Amino acid sequence: MMDTYRELFSKLISNPTVGELGVDASESLSKYAVKTNAKMMVEIGFNRGSSALTFLLSLPEVVLHSIDIRPYEDVKGSVDFLTEQFPGRFFYHHSSSEFLLDIVKEPVDFVFIDGDHSYAGILRDTELSVQLNPKYILYDDACHPQHGHGVLSVIERMGWTSKTTVDCYTNIHGRIASSGFAFVELV
Ligand SMILES: C[S@@+](CC[C@H](N)C(=O)[O-])C[C@H]1O[C@@H](n2cnc3c(N)ncnc32)[C@H](O)[C@@H]1O
Repeated sequence: MMDTYRELFSKLISNPTVGELGVDASESLSKYAVKTNAKMMVEIGFNRGSSALTFLLSLPEVVLHSIDIRPYEDVKGSVDFLTEQFPGRFFYHHSSSEFLLDIVKEPVDFVFIDGDHSYAGILRDTELSVQLNPKYILYDDACHPQHGHGVLSVIERMGWTSKTTVDCYTNIHGRIASSGFAFVELV
């Protein structure tokens, strides 16, 4: 299983950057994805497609819209690979998430927020996502030394603390000392 994952991850464009949920994080990320049983989902923050690949593998029926400010030319290798590997299930949108509601117009089951990690960015992405009526929202970096406070403050501001599971981890991708997920169940 992990060998298949490694093989698929190796097809994404190279130069992994700090903060991505690579193959070592796929098991943890997958646990949340499976729980949602999502058929329609949005990912804010594609980077080179690692988390997108995990979602597409974990959720066999999901249609995934990934949004990132990275131009298509920069991520072409990954986008083309995922489009070919998961026909009709993966759509890349080169855009700021500010325009989320121009891109996705139908309700979604699940939103993954891992884009602009400033408090203002997380709040904006959250408030826009809510308008798509998701049952679940997952945030990365909930325990991150720099960004974790922003995630948890937004969750508190939304009144979701009692609906949220925070799962901190250490060294999951080798380069970040500590981070974690916050999983909000709105159903
Ligand atoms: C931490 S990376 C995402 C990692 C990816 N989810 C993964 O685990 O493989 C954050 C990404 O958010 C993107 N980003 C930052 N601000 C954004 C915005 N306003 N709208 C959309 N994407 C944004 C960056 O270009 C970067 O690729």
